[in-house]
Amino acid sequence: MTTAIDTLLGDITTVDYDAIVNAANTSLLGGGGVDGAIHRAAGPKLLAECRTLHGCPTGQAKLTGGYDLPARCVIHTPGPIWRGGGHGERELLSSAYRSSLELALEHRCETVAFPLISSGAYGYPKDQAMKVAVDTIEDFLRRHDMTVYLVIFDRTAFSIARKLFADLADDTEDHRLV
Ligand code: AR6
Repeated sequence: MTTAIDTLLGDITTVDYDAIVNAANTSLLGGGGVDGAIHRAAGPKLLAECRTLHGCPTGQAKLTGGYDLPARCVIHTPGPIWRGGGHGERELLSSAYRSSLELALEHRCETVAFPLISSGAYGYPKDQAMKVAVDTIEDFLRRHDMTVYLVIFDRTAFSIARKLFADLADDTEDHRLV
């Protein structure tokens, strides 16, 4: 199996990997942004399963089925709300990625896609959020076999990724999902 990390531009609900990660809130009962998109695409059975989980603390993760999504399962993780950077946000965000990756491993997922957790409604600056994501994923991949994708939704963030990680994302057209 190959061990790699790559960035993709597009909608995470369209990928058919073993798992996609949801940037959830601690209730796990849905919301806007990528959470709303995942629930819409998965159908009402996802919310029914989420109701049985009784929420999830920030920086931890819980797994459900993928239902009508092309992905086999969904890993739900609430990232931190950005409060200026001095409130443990970096460690909590790193923990959200790490907990999700550990859960994916436990469930024998070989391909996993992440959105840029906390970088929308939760206000984490996108360049910093991206650096935490890549550092945490790379660290995990030094010890485990998995193929991990960072799925970036908007072109502005994607061009930040290209500047920050020229070796990861070299051309928009080659990395577009749909
Ligand atoms: N595919 C990939 N990325 C997406 C998609 C998509 N379909 N839609 C949005 N993004 P956000 P957060 C990007 O707000 O900041 C929810 O209401 C988006 O451009 O979805 O962790 C939850 O219920 C941004 O870069 O998540 C929580 O209450 C990134 O996903 C709260 O928002 C994350 O933006 C969580 O906020």
